[in-house]
Amino acid sequence: MSEREKKLEAAKERLKAFGQEHLLKYYGELPETEQDALLSQILATDFSVLSPGQLAAEKKARGRIEPLSCLELPAIEARREAYEAAGLKALRGGLCAAVLLAGGMGTRLGLSGPKGACDIGITRPVYIFQRLLENLAETARRALRPLRLFIMTSEKNDAETRAFLREHEFFGYPEEYVSFFVQDMAPCTDFGGKVLLEEKGRIAASPNGNGGWFVSLLRSEAGHLLADEGIRWLNVFGVDNVLQRILDPVFVGATILGGCAVGSKVVRKVSPEEKVGVMCLEDGRPSVIEYSEMTPELLAERNEKGEPAYNFGVILNYLFSVEELRKHADGKLLLHLARKKIPCLDETGRAVRPGEPNGLKYELFIFDQIHEMPGCLPFEVVREREFAPVKNAQGADSVESARRLCEKNGIAL
Ligand code: UTP
Repeated sequence: MSEREKKLEAAKERLKAFGQEHLLKYYGELPETEQDALLSQILATDFSVLSPGQLAAEKKARGRIEPLSCLELPAIEARREAYEAAGLKALRGGLCAAVLLAGGMGTRLGLSGPKGACDIGITRPVYIFQRLLENLAETARRALRPLRLFIMTSEKNDAETRAFLREHEFFGYPEEYVSFFVQDMAPCTDFGGKVLLEEKGRIAASPNGNGGWFVSLLRSEAGHLLADEGIRWLNVFGVDNVLQRILDPVFVGATILGGCAVGSKVVRKVSPEEKVGVMCLEDGRPSVIEYSEMTPELLAERNEKGEPAYNFGVILNYLFSVEELRKHADGKLLLHLARKKIPCLDETGRAVRPGEPNGLKYELFIFDQIHEMPGCLPFEVVREREFAPVKNAQGADSVESARRLCEKNGIAL
């Protein structure tokens, strides 16, 4: 039996186990290189994400939701020096690194390349990646040492991201302290759970969400650096906040001195209806509840100060204990399903670009990772100084709104 025939047999067996045999429907029509590529993709795809167990878990009801108190600005101010000193000590001791989550597709923004390559400048180019690397460099100066940065990309934007950063010489950040890793992909299906073909020789797949970052990092070539360099804390943050403070010593110190497994930067909600995930306790463990899941009772609940009990929204900036993350690295997070328009082949083998959602994408959420942690410190930051997300092409959370916030913070654009 040739190598290809052996691969074909293995692929058939794998597909049979998951009821996805139709993916080889056009195999016989393909040139050999495409046959090889399809077989490799089948053998590398984690079809177990579609197993009824994990999908059933998605429908699980929320547990008992209670408020989680937050370290608010006055309390932070009162202990700023102590927190800062503890944070700087950890940074100078090399215990902390940063993880940039840049594997998303940024579909709402409508750019074709990586979101970090988006130019928000007015009189000169100012790229999102540049803002982030410059912010990290500022902390590194205070730490008196370069700080390691891991960048998560996806198969869809890895080459472009690396090329962009090399072309711009990492905006002055020392390249040897930047390590890339690629997140996993998840197959896309129709509403009945059958995996879609994007082309005759290619399965439709999309990045598997931002919740799989730690497992992908551990498995990657860069994974050994955590142990080799004695990294104990990872500051994970999203690509799209151009005011993101990375490895902020006060936040690092407060989380460490608070004895928490994870710290989460949060902002005070502008109104109870603001559509952000809020920190809470769920069955006694830290959790994030999405706006869409908030009941009228939860929205109306007040704390002892008479303020809304669920008043602090997350901004995708978390400091995780590596030791705690490792304890959960073998487990499976819940899968979240999203109805999306997925370009694919129809039953006749014709390529279609649907105008309406035609299938499901499967994603892991970092929120669920928070719920695995024994304790979390929500840490309030001043919204106007630290939160300028670029999510949409226009309106709220757009390049325009981020520009205004940068200008308010004295950043020349
Ligand atoms: P978003 O939820 O805003 O998703 O990601 P997105 O893919 O960037 O944008 P849309 O929804 O398609 O418009 C929040 C953060 O998580 C990262 C993103 O890069 C961003 O930093 N992310 C998201 C990943 O790294 N991988 C993913 O699979 C999804």
